[in-house]
Amino acid sequence: MRLAGKVAVVTGGTRGLGRAIAERFLDEGASVVCAARNPYDIVELIDRAPGRVAFHAVDVTDPDSVVELMDQSVEAFGGLDIVVANAAVSRDGKVERLDPRDWRQMVDTNLNGVFYSTQAAAKHMIARGGGHIITVSSCMASRVAVGAAGYAATKAAVEMFTRTSAIELGRKGVRVNCLAPGVLDGGMGEQLADNDKVWAVYKERFSLGRAGRLDEAADGALFLASEASSYVNGHVLEVNGGLLWA
Ligand SMILES: NC(=O)c1ccc[n+]([C@@H]2O[C@H](COP(=O)([O-])OP(=O)(O)OC[C@H]3O[C@@H](n4cnc5c(N)ncnc54)[C@H](OP(=O)(O)O)[C@@H]3O)[C@@H](O)[C@H]2O)c1
Repeated sequence: MRLAGKVAVVTGGTRGLGRAIAERFLDEGASVVCAARNPYDIVELIDRAPGRVAFHAVDVTDPDSVVELMDQSVEAFGGLDIVVANAAVSRDGKVERLDPRDWRQMVDTNLNGVFYSTQAAAKHMIARGGGHIITVSSCMASRVAVGAAGYAATKAAVEMFTRTSAIELGRKGVRVNCLAPGVLDGGMGEQLADNDKVWAVYKERFSLGRAGRLDEAADGALFLASEASSYVNGHVLEVNGGLLWA
C-alpha cells in the first residue's frame, strides 16, 4: 500500500494507460479521480473501490475546466497529492499534408493540457506542503519517425516543460517527473500492432522482443508517485523495453 491515504488525479484516466495507472494507484491505497471528456466504463472501477474512485468530466484544452477539476477533487477528497497529466491525442500526417486542425488539437491537448494541469495542481500542492506531478511523454519525444512530427514535437516539449517545472516547484515541495513509455499493447499503441506492415518494422526495434504492457508502464508512474522516488526530480523515466532506434 505505497499510496495509502493519498489523493490522485489522472487525466485521461478512463482508458488505455491512464486507466492502468488509476488501477495501480487504487491497488496501492490511493483515492483516484479519473478525468476525461467521456466516462466510458468507469462504473466498473467505481464498483471495484467504492468511495475511493470518482469520474470528473474535463477537457484539458480548456484551462478553466482543468482548474475546476483540481478544485473539485480537493473538495471531494480533502487534498491533492499526485497528478498524472496523461491525456493526449495522436494524429499522424507528413508535414506537407498534416491538417493544421490536427496539429492544433495535439498542441492544445498534449502540451497546453499538461501546462494547465501542472499549474492548477501546483497551487493546491504548494498550499498543502508538497506533491508529485507526473507528465507523460513518449519514446517519440526523442526519436524520429515519418508522419509523427506533430505528436513528437508536443512530447519533446512536454519533457522540457517537465524539467523547468521541476526546478521551479522543487523548492516548494512539489516534484515533477515525466514518464516516457515506448510502444504499449493498449491505448494508442494498439493502432501500431493492428497494422501488419508497420508492426513488422517496430518489432525489430524492441530489444526485449515485444511491446510493453500497460501495467508495466503504470509501474513506472507508481515509482514516480511514491516515496521510492523521493530524491528524483526533473527526470524522464523511459519505460520502453530498450527501444533500439536512432
Ligand atoms: N499507448 C502507447 O503505446 C503509448 C506510448 C507512448 C506514450 N503514450 C502516452 O500515454 C498517454 C496515454 O495514452 P493512451 O495510449 O492511453 O491513449 P488513449 O487510449 O487514446 O487514451 C487517451 C485518454 O485521454 C483522454 N483525452 C483525450 N483528449 C482529452 C481532452 N481534451 N481532455 C481530457 N481528456 C482527454 C481520453 O478520453 P476522452 O477521449 O473521453 O477525453 C482517454 O481517456 C498519452 O500521453 C500518450 O501520448 C502512450
